[in-house]
Amino acid sequence: MRSTLKLLAASAILSASVSGLALAAETVEVLHWWTSGGEAAAVGVLKDDLQKQNVTWQDMPVAGGGGEAAMTALKARVTSGNPPTAAQLLGMAVNEWSEEGLLGDLTPIAEKEGWDKVVPDAIKNFAVHDGKWQAVPVNIHRPNWLWINAKVFKENGLEPPKNWDEFNQIADKLKAKGIVPLAHGGQPWQDTTIFDDVVVGIGGPEFYKKAILELDEESLRSDTMIKVFDQMRKIRGYVDPNFSGRDWNLATGMVLKGDAAMQLMGDWAKGEIVKANLKPGVDILCVPAPGTEGTFLFNTDFFAMFPVGEDKLQAQYKLASSVMSPSFQEAFNLVKGSIPARTDVPGDKFDACAQRSMADLKAAQGAGTMMGSLAHGHAEPAAIQRAIFDVVTQHFNSDMSSKDAVAALVNSVNAAK
Ligand code: GAL
Repeated sequence: MRSTLKLLAASAILSASVSGLALAAETVEVLHWWTSGGEAAAVGVLKDDLQKQNVTWQDMPVAGGGGEAAMTALKARVTSGNPPTAAQLLGMAVNEWSEEGLLGDLTPIAEKEGWDKVVPDAIKNFAVHDGKWQAVPVNIHRPNWLWINAKVFKENGLEPPKNWDEFNQIADKLKAKGIVPLAHGGQPWQDTTIFDDVVVGIGGPEFYKKAILELDEESLRSDTMIKVFDQMRKIRGYVDPNFSGRDWNLATGMVLKGDAAMQLMGDWAKGEIVKANLKPGVDILCVPAPGTEGTFLFNTDFFAMFPVGEDKLQAQYKLASSVMSPSFQEAFNLVKGSIPARTDVPGDKFDACAQRSMADLKAAQGAGTMMGSLAHGHAEPAAIQRAIFDVVTQHFNSDMSSKDAVAALVNSVNAAK
């Protein structure tokens, strides 16, 4: 990623003012990957908010959960010398684009509006580089949730699992009755969303910190990691035969309809629940992924700003200012499934799952167990993240042994370092 970005740097900066001329002064073009029902509804909130200020939203959606396709499209746009006004980026990607000197600067508006005081440090660290605000955080997502169809559980006399052993017992019971235990989409980022849960759930938060955040080789090749892959193999047995390549929102749909009992997915799944007029916490239960209670894995969607000409700066500032306003953070996150990135937005309008997220986040911050998600771009740079994706997915889709998977993990991580 680094070297590609280096090549792009010159053309992006030179062309920023030219591209600005191509659009009306009060237009913002925003590249993002929010194309599912719930996600698109959330984009609508932002679009309406800007329209009220006479800023036109020029949409550049690139379908594909987790944003991989969007990142390829963004690179192509920047290479061709035509960056958008802003792009949805996950935290590590903000760092990487910033390091290459490719992002704009929102500091004047950040200072005027006092963003420093209301954004938690863990998130500010990704948005601010060399003292400059270069991206605005839209939300805080929690990827380590388990979503449960309440009716299916009730009919089968089941209680939400608290650890992976309980999960396996429940899944075995459901499977024996011909019910798909786990809705899953076989895409690398979805496989790794589950892997993150299993690493925390089996090894504990300290193990996640060592193995994933610090890439400590002893932890990566430990017996605990073998157990993690053993559990991944078990999970492979609980998904339906058509899981391969399925989009995450279709997997969520299976749980909503009762075609599957559970899904391990971030709280963007809640956007789909709300969109389907079901009640999170009532129709669809939310509990931390097995064994991860007390840990808050997080990812934040940022809108990173590209340098624009003078003619477009005011519209860019308006976009940033809108995203950061408490009223927008509330309205948007009610629809998106996440919680606000500002600490001063009241939680009273939010559902039970979001309120639990808010409380759990506070507790995890205190306990040092709020940690960046690997699957969702807040733990490792793209090259290492990709290396781990490859091993997790290869293991999930073959009969590779846990021992071989651990060896492959160590090799791939070392090669990508
Ligand atoms: C995440 C992103 C979320 C959601 C999800 C599925 O990486 O942070 O906002 O869009 O992917 O697309």
